[in-house]
Amino acid sequence: MLFQARNLRKRYRLGDVVIEALRGIDVEVGKGEFVVVAGPSGSGKTSLLNLLGCLDEPDEGQVLFAGADLASLTPAEKTRLRRRQLGFVFQSFNLLPVLSAFENVEYPLWIDGIPRADRKRRAEAALAAVGLDDRMRHRPDQLCRWPSWPTSPPRTWTRAPRPRSSTSWHG
Ligand SMILES: Nc1ncnc2c1ncn2[C@@H]1O[C@H](COP(=O)(O)OP(=O)(O)OP(=O)(O)O)[C@@H](O)[C@H]1O
Ligand SMILES: [Mg+2]
Repeated sequence: MLFQARNLRKRYRLGDVVIEALRGIDVEVGKGEFVVVAGPSGSGKTSLLNLLGCLDEPDEGQVLFAGADLASLTPAEKTRLRRRQLGFVFQSFNLLPVLSAFENVEYPLWIDGIPRADRKRRAEAALAAVGLDDRMRHRPDQLCRWPSWPTSPPRTWTRAPRPRSSTSWHG
């Protein structure tokens, strides 16, 4: 199993109000498996993905990634895991508006110490996969009406997870 999550519980506190976003979730995801999490707004999809993506910690329960308990990792180990083995397309995209599409895709590779020529090859290939080959130097807000979307998946593909070549990302 790649992911094994057991009895995940997550609560948020807003003043006196406690919101139970996750109430005992069990999930298993195997290597190469494609899983969709669907549900109404507010049902806890982002909360769950934040826990699996090593971005947040559960109040109860456990997440194992490739057999390792995420709670046992040091902050530096978690950072390396996020940087090298997890790809995350954020709901709010989190692109840097002053950087071009190319630079947004390239900068995580730069942080990871990837040599310049390799960064360029990987960033260009990922952007070409979503049809942005001729607009790599545009900033996200210059790309289209829904500007951030096309650049976000390529930023994750330069590292571990990749889409199958037949996957269409054009809306
Ligand atoms: N940081 C937070 N502080 C307080 N409450 C939160 C926080 N994040 C999420 N919630 C609440 O937790 C519940 C689950 O939210 P979550 O964002 O996980 O849902 P979602 O399924 O991703 O929704 P959407 O489809 O709108 O993205 C909601 O009631 C939401 O208001
Ligand atoms: Mg969400």
